[in-house]
Amino acid sequence: MGEQFNRLFDEWAASYDDTVQGADMEYREVFRNYEIILQKISDRAHGFVIEFGVGTGNLTKKLMEKGLEVVGIEPSDNMRKIAQQKLPNTKIMKGNFLSFPRQNKKVDAIVSSYAFHHLTDKEKEQAIKLYTNILDTQGKIIFGDTIFENDKKKNEAYLQAKKKGYHRLAEDLNTEYYTTIPKMEQILHQYGFTTSFEQINDYVWILEAQLNREAKLA
Ligand SMILES: C[S@@+](CC[C@H](N)C(=O)[O-])C[C@H]1O[C@@H](n2cnc3c(N)ncnc32)[C@H](O)[C@@H]1O
Repeated sequence: MGEQFNRLFDEWAASYDDTVQGADMEYREVFRNYEIILQKISDRAHGFVIEFGVGTGNLTKKLMEKGLEVVGIEPSDNMRKIAQQKLPNTKIMKGNFLSFPRQNKKVDAIVSSYAFHHLTDKEKEQAIKLYTNILDTQGKIIFGDTIFENDKKKNEAYLQAKKKGYHRLAEDLNTEYYTTIPKMEQILHQYGFTTSFEQINDYVWILEAQLNREAKLA
């Protein structure tokens, strides 16, 4: 549950920052506008922030530069090491979306980039339920990740990747837990969030979910 991708990310850590800059042709579209995606997530965050799946710390850096109080959570040792080297004064802890050191105050924003798809839809729901307990009454979730408008679009993306000979990308699209907007809306609305989605490239959307605890209790 959460640690199954550690080996992959431990191995990828050293070259990860080259990939996000477009070095890998197969993933170029996935990472197109990477900096803009991180900036938009950071722009929408405020106050006390928990970031999941910090990787090499690129979003963390933007959050810190904005002057926010940030706790980063990352399961891969090698990723965490690189992030901590880049940001020696930031608290970056071992953990994952579902299991992480609890903080002793309410959280204003939970953020993540390119990571929530590592959870199955069932685990995504467990995570969202958990976050309703740690977020402040008007807290927000802001995630940038690959997501599809529906299952048909997801299948089209898979077929397209195969047609282009992008076999690693096709395999990813077939095996990782990329979800759909209606599925995320269903989960988030159930737990009292209002939602909005902004598309950034052919794969990545920014999901913003605003908790409205009064609405949840009504
Ligand atoms: C594609 S990288 C994204 C890194 C960074 N957020 C970025 O935008 O560049 C995915 C990251 O999620 C982490 N990860 C994998 N499974 C996770 C989980 N269950 N909970 C939290 N992070 C996870 C990986 O170790 C990796 O660092």
